[in-house]
Amino acid sequence: MVGDIFSFPSEAGIEWALDQLKQAGLPYLYTAGNHDWHYEGMPGPHAELRATWCEKRLKPLYQGENPLMGVREINGVRFVSIDNSNYEIVPEQLAFFKSQAALKQPMVLLLHIPLYAPGRTIGYGCGHPQWGAATDRNYEIERRERWPETGHTPTTFKFRREVFRSPYLMGILAGHIHRPTLDVIQGIPQLVTNANATGAYLKVECVVAQE
Ligand SMILES: [Fe+2]
Repeated sequence: MVGDIFSFPSEAGIEWALDQLKQAGLPYLYTAGNHDWHYEGMPGPHAELRATWCEKRLKPLYQGENPLMGVREINGVRFVSIDNSNYEIVPEQLAFFKSQAALKQPMVLLLHIPLYAPGRTIGYGCGHPQWGAATDRNYEIERRERWPETGHTPTTFKFRREVFRSPYLMGILAGHIHRPTLDVIQGIPQLVTNANATGAYLKVECVVAQE
């Protein structure tokens, strides 16, 4: 699950989601979306709000995993989640991704915000070269912290470069945009599906060739 499951998490909402997951009986990995920890007008830096609400409300969804990064192997494919719901990647997440990629096993990356794809808008992409305070048109409407003056951190750019040069990465599943898109970047597909509130879902089949 790649986030924006809730429009700010009530305890009842979390219970409902957990109940649905239990009934489905499928293995799952959850990474937060910005709407899962931010309510419009709620003051504070995004990284702090995320840490607070991941601990206070979203915690049961992580099944004991670190909210910032996790991995679950299902039928020989490693599903790796990295929380970039504040548009940034921290050094621990970059190191974690690199350690997973170094295992040389088939891997799918789960992100809330898709990675920048050439030709896409600024809001679309984590790692967009023009992302930053000067291009943040919605911070007043959304009543949230403005994107930083300095744009993305070097770690975020480095993460994007690492991802698209990972030969064992089969694809990226992302959310945030709430409309169906497909980009293929350096041979790696990145998919976003329609908003789950519309009932949309995406069925992806991963085929691992046997040597
Ligand atoms: Fe989002």
